[in-house]
Amino acid sequence: MTGRGTGRPVSRRGLLTGGALTASGALAGAVAATVATRDHSAAATATTVGTLVEPFHGTRQAGVATAAQAHACFVAFTLRPDPDRAVLGRMLRLLSDDAARLTQGQPALADTEAELAVLPARLTVTFGFGPGLYRAAGLADRRPPSVAELPPFAVDRLQPAWSGGDLLLQICADDPVTVAHAQRMLIKDSRPFATVRWVQRGFRRSHGTQQGNPTQRNLFGQLDGTANPRPGTPALDTAVWSTDEAPWLRNGSTLVLRRIRMDLEKWDLLGRTDRELAVGRRLDTGAPLTGQAEHDPPDFAAVNGAGLTVIPDFSHLSRAHVTEDRQRILRRPYNYDEAPAADGTADSGLIFASYQADITEQFLPIQRRLAERDLLNEWTTPIGSAVFAIPPGCPPGGWIGQQLLG
Ligand code: HEM
Repeated sequence: MTGRGTGRPVSRRGLLTGGALTASGALAGAVAATVATRDHSAAATATTVGTLVEPFHGTRQAGVATAAQAHACFVAFTLRPDPDRAVLGRMLRLLSDDAARLTQGQPALADTEAELAVLPARLTVTFGFGPGLYRAAGLADRRPPSVAELPPFAVDRLQPAWSGGDLLLQICADDPVTVAHAQRMLIKDSRPFATVRWVQRGFRRSHGTQQGNPTQRNLFGQLDGTANPRPGTPALDTAVWSTDEAPWLRNGSTLVLRRIRMDLEKWDLLGRTDRELAVGRRLDTGAPLTGQAEHDPPDFAAVNGAGLTVIPDFSHLSRAHVTEDRQRILRRPYNYDEAPAADGTADSGLIFASYQADITEQFLPIQRRLAERDLLNEWTTPIGSAVFAIPPGCPPGGWIGQQLLG
């Protein structure tokens, strides 16, 4: 798995051979050739980010432990009535082929805008299987037990428009045109099999805006992601990748996707100190209120002169904190910011994506504690909820979901 800025540049050979094999081969070949001849010109340096590639084939799907790209689009589908296992297999073969090509900077088989495919910009397409897919395939007994609609929480104000889904395609890249093109191609090819249920678009800071790969900021201005398990560590592997939920899911994961509205108007009324107390961390550095630097361990026992804990017991940090790797979750959230209401009220929040080996063992205990008591609840409201299994990856020539449906 490669990190931001370390993605492999797309090779000229890959572009040329990939294009030549496609139905739209002539056009694709022409596009590839254009890129190739421009290689020595100034245009080549201008497209450095665009040419970076994340692998598609592998034991695990990309887009989970991959350093988060700047743009994301989550597309949930409802399967058409009566698809059987064979039909689902055909759909996933086709979509896997599209994803394999597009992520490597090659046009999809029936690509109508092949020019848009040549700059993958670290594109990843990650497949998720919602609870309804197993029923449709006649494989209800192979649904991973924790991949089921979440129990209701008192804080929830869920809207059907942002909830549920039989199939998810999570499309991420460092360029929004690349995301739009991949989304269009994948939706077109899914039409005979499924209808679009909802689409959620999110963003982080653009590639190159900051040095390195620092923790992202959400629209409350908070550093969001500090305590995440680090990519490439055993802690992340233990937290994220499934070993025993269901045999076919080995090297897969599960995803909980919550759309959480953030009340920016109400947040505006809060002073800086109260904002920091609500989370238990400083806004500027992200340090815990008991520390100096972002990654200092929080001291939940430290008390102030008045005998109160420095990090409030009901702060988001106190309520969400876990110590065991097997209890942790990997948060990979994206900001959303839709058009404000006529009076200027913001429609903003987080597309909160949480990956874990097992939803029941990891996400749910944290979510229960937060729903029960978390100062941040004053300013946040979950308005959408969906759960998916993230199947393992596939080798070249294989397809996503083969372990379940093949
Ligand atoms: C809009 C909603 C939310 C906002 C704005 C938010 C924001 C934050 C911030 C600023 C931090 C501290 C820095 C960090 O470690 O990332 C944090 C930590 C954390 N959040 Fe959230 N969060 C939200 C929802 C959730 C939800 C729904 C969950 C899980 C059910 C969750 C789980 C966690 C966890 C596990 C931590 C790390 C705690 C630790 O061990 O230090 N958050 N969140």
